[in-house]
Amino acid sequence: MSLSVETVQTTPYEGQKPGTSGLRKKVKVFTQPNYTENFVQCILDANEAAALNGSTLIVGGDGRYYCKEAAELIVRICAANGVAKLLVGQNGILSTPAVSSLIRHNKALGGIVLTASHNPGGPENDFGIKFNCENGGPAPDAFTNKIHQLSTIIKNYKLVRGLQIDISKVGVSNYDIAGKPFVVEVIDSVADYVQHMEEIFNFAKLREFVSGKATGKPLKMRIDSMNGVTGAYVREIFLNRLGAAEACVVHTTPQPDFGGLHPDPNLTYAKDLVDTVAKGDYDIGAAFDGDGDRNMIIGSKAFFVTPSDSLAVIAHYLEAIPYFQKNGVQGFARSMPTASAVDLVGKRLGKEVFEVPTGWKYFGNLMDAGRLCLCGEESFGTGSNHIREKDGIWAVLAWISVMQHTGKSIEDILKQHWSVYGRNYFTRYDYEECDLEPCNEMMATMEQNITAADFAGKSFTSGGKSYKVKEADNFSYTDPVDKSVATKQGLRIVFEDGSRIVMRLSGTGSSGATVRLYIDSYEKENVLGQASVMLKPLIDIALEISQLPKFTGRSAPTVIT
Ligand code: G6P
Ligand code: ZN
Repeated sequence: MSLSVETVQTTPYEGQKPGTSGLRKKVKVFTQPNYTENFVQCILDANEAAALNGSTLIVGGDGRYYCKEAAELIVRICAANGVAKLLVGQNGILSTPAVSSLIRHNKALGGIVLTASHNPGGPENDFGIKFNCENGGPAPDAFTNKIHQLSTIIKNYKLVRGLQIDISKVGVSNYDIAGKPFVVEVIDSVADYVQHMEEIFNFAKLREFVSGKATGKPLKMRIDSMNGVTGAYVREIFLNRLGAAEACVVHTTPQPDFGGLHPDPNLTYAKDLVDTVAKGDYDIGAAFDGDGDRNMIIGSKAFFVTPSDSLAVIAHYLEAIPYFQKNGVQGFARSMPTASAVDLVGKRLGKEVFEVPTGWKYFGNLMDAGRLCLCGEESFGTGSNHIREKDGIWAVLAWISVMQHTGKSIEDILKQHWSVYGRNYFTRYDYEECDLEPCNEMMATMEQNITAADFAGKSFTSGGKSYKVKEADNFSYTDPVDKSVATKQGLRIVFEDGSRIVMRLSGTGSSGATVRLYIDSYEKENVLGQASVMLKPLIDIALEISQLPKFTGRSAPTVIT
């Protein structure tokens, strides 16, 4: 039976502007009449018509509330817009790294990822839609700007209303859309990704290490999926493939509201993991965010590995991972607010190190050009050029590989690293859901102050420590590959000793403004101090320069990482 395409009249919605990582809004915003339809149509229209026609797309998300409905809607809209084939995760479930992997393996035109990442889920919380391009990475600025521009003038969208689809069963369905074939393949959510990890790491070796076959002592792990999408992947990889005991994994059933958890792997929101590992007898603790691209690593007694250090340590031990033995080691990269620990490893190994704006999309061009193989962000993102997204499970497998390779505990690995390279003490203060207006004013005022001619050279003193300003600016970045420019990516003050204060507004929130204050302070010798103590003087200086308490009315951050 041939199904017909319907053209539905619509009017634009304001604010369909993708942020750092896709469009994120409350579920209630997405479920307004035609809201999701408009945005999906604009995503498709932002592609070249010739490329879209006959294309393959990947569709899936983190299983949060509204994922399944949105996935079904997307199938109907894609069918009406000339897409030839969709690969849809069973029940609409695919982790963000899995989507990236699938796009690349299937040479698809792209993927539509249904996630608001680490933002809470459920009917009262957030939903999100993000487009990834054919390299598997988040769409670049030019593309998302086009989506936004189209969303302001949209007049109609196309839909095959009569298309019935059951995405709860794996299998292939063939349709005839106005005389043209259209295929929907509902795929096992984990199979492709698990195979990919098997190609990257030495699973046989890791199985001996994790299960304890080699040592007689199984690795004591606590892996927390925080009720997000990684649950199914974690069970297959760590339990079935690597032989870990059931008790090593928790919260592995994806839930539409993440069981009420805030699925963000950091010291505040993964408190359950931190407390359990602090009390118990574990070698490694790890958590992921809702869509599986973020990770947090802690060692025995909840010894915290900052994401900046995690990146540097993995860079140092890349030879422990077969993928890099085979494909070679190109350059490294980090986002601007990320502490520069990896720069020191890069320097030692004679590798290029890039500093890009916040957002994984900025790594893609460098990877595609063969200049970058490992990168990370302070926001709990670590990954490599095996895909074009950060990858939480990959990061844990990398850490376990390093532990196996060195035979050392996480704490000892870090201490040894600092003894060689020195230590970048780092912290981030988040002030969530502030009023937008005063925050914009604060940023504008601070920018004016720190870019004034007499600011460089000024000294600031607090807690007996003095810092002299070397330079300060609003970070702008020119992509070394395509020369595109991203301006206003965050205020930064760099001091003579290399310490830094960085301040920016988050691009991933769904309401109000979140201020992020990043403090990075390097010590060559004094590497065993407590981060909160070591960084206190610089934090106070940052609060003084920015006048944050005055502008936001906040005397304390909501989250410290
Ligand atoms: C997402 C992106 C990251 C980015 C992070 C923080 O996770 O994928 O690349 O670092 O958001 O963004 P924000 O703008 O909220 O600081
Ligand atoms: Zn995420």
